[in-house]
Amino acid sequence: MLYSEKVMDHFRNPRNVGVIDQADGVGEVGNAKCGDIMKIYLKIDGDAISDVKFETFGCGSAIASSSMATEMIKGKPLEEVMELTNKAVVEALDGLPAHKLHCSVLAEEAVKAALKDYYDKNNIAYDPKQFPNVDCAGCH
Ligand code: FES
Repeated sequence: MLYSEKVMDHFRNPRNVGVIDQADGVGEVGNAKCGDIMKIYLKIDGDAISDVKFETFGCGSAIASSSMATEMIKGKPLEEVMELTNKAVVEALDGLPAHKLHCSVLAEEAVKAALKDYYDKNNIAYDPKQFPNVDCAGCH
């Protein structure tokens, strides 16, 4: 079996699909190679994520990764969200095939882009090094 049960579950029944009107932060990232696009909306209450939704126009692994990533950050304090890695998303999904790892990178990037958008809009200072342009080694 190429895909784990968890990947199939999150692909078939993705959690937190949709749009948040007047989101506090929105992040949109795309993978130039495959053309897939992921958009994450954050609602932030104090210093925690009170709600999160996503729209992904992409492959099954990208949908499963965004679904899992939203579940992992919902209700979490922002500093924990900053530490979300694509590796943690892949582990939570019980793995992705090697040639699909870049799909999980898209989820990490979208979450961080949304957080950065929130910081920018509210003039909250941050270390730019925390938002590196994740280089997608898996892309071909
Ligand atoms: Fe493009 Fe999965 S193939 S994100």
